[in-house]
Amino acid sequence: MAQVSVSEDGSVLTLEQAGKATRFHAVWLRDNALDPETRAVGNGQRLITMADIPGDIRVEAASVAGDTVTCRFAPEGKEAVFPLDWLNAHAYDTAPEVLLVPDGIETWDAGLPVPVGDFATLQTSEPALRDWLAAVARFGFAKVTGLPAESGALFQLVDLFGYVRETNYGRHFEVRAEVNPTNLAYTGLGLQAHTDNPYRDPVPTLQILSCIENSCAGGDSMVVDGFRAAERLRDEMPDGFELLSQHCARFDYQGEVGVHLSSRRPMIELSPDGQLQQIRFNSRSAAPITDVPFEKMADYYVAYRRFAEIIDDLDMAVEFKLQPGEAFIVDNTRVMHSRRAFSGAGHRWLQGCYADKDGLLSKLSTLETTA
Ligand code: FE2
Repeated sequence: MAQVSVSEDGSVLTLEQAGKATRFHAVWLRDNALDPETRAVGNGQRLITMADIPGDIRVEAASVAGDTVTCRFAPEGKEAVFPLDWLNAHAYDTAPEVLLVPDGIETWDAGLPVPVGDFATLQTSEPALRDWLAAVARFGFAKVTGLPAESGALFQLVDLFGYVRETNYGRHFEVRAEVNPTNLAYTGLGLQAHTDNPYRDPVPTLQILSCIENSCAGGDSMVVDGFRAAERLRDEMPDGFELLSQHCARFDYQGEVGVHLSSRRPMIELSPDGQLQQIRFNSRSAAPITDVPFEKMADYYVAYRRFAEIIDDLDMAVEFKLQPGEAFIVDNTRVMHSRRAFSGAGHRWLQGCYADKDGLLSKLSTLETTA
């Protein structure tokens, strides 16, 4: 049986259940009241602002009835009812253990089997689509087979979960060898594992690459988990991890007329409480680093070198060759992609586009809720 008590000054409510006490602040409870004057019925959005909550807000009475807690707030005289389940689900009275890798993410190296979905199945089966999107959320990449091997097919893939993000490269871009390329991606050169477009802020959070032709020798695709690389760096060189996460790098692109993109962000970005948020790694577009103090620059480069070595380590890479009618998607905030060099004999034609991860996660969340 749950019981509640209120501190003498009314600033804290304590909920006791099965011998465990959970505290809530009066101001927090008032801010999160669930009644229709505080939260809009329908869209659930908050109707009040901080200015609507008195600075001397306190709980003047509280009681438990069944599976709800009722609070009366002073000086408003307002009553609010909270289901116990809701309070338990939103409790904050134990210091959370903040792990380096966010919940729901599994880091990997070369041993990971490639998550794959069949396009026709993804189009017709919500459970199959849910599982494939869940793999993208968990592992940061996945492959698709059975796409039409034709121009524009990648948009059909994006239609499964969200929207294309258009950039100066267009709604989509062609990845094949070009004369006078505006980007080294459009050559036969091998590319080091990288995240795309770190010079944008925000970066494109998803990239899709679909294969229309691939009869060249080489040109295999590789993906590397940047979060695993960051974990390794932290284990091997904690001071180096600190340097790459606490100081900004700079990235820059002005490869075509009328475009100058630049950003100032760390290679390893952490949340304020130390959780991995994003990796930016792309030597082609790294600009001179000027935000590291002189005394730390040599050590910064030692860390940068070690991070690059970890990323180049083939034990980190999952490798596959895209066949016509296949595509892959990467979480560009985490997973790096690369390709081996390819020869001039035969044809290699990929198309790429960007999309937004929040839309993909939104689709996944709704599919999980309706499951
Ligand atoms: Fe790329």
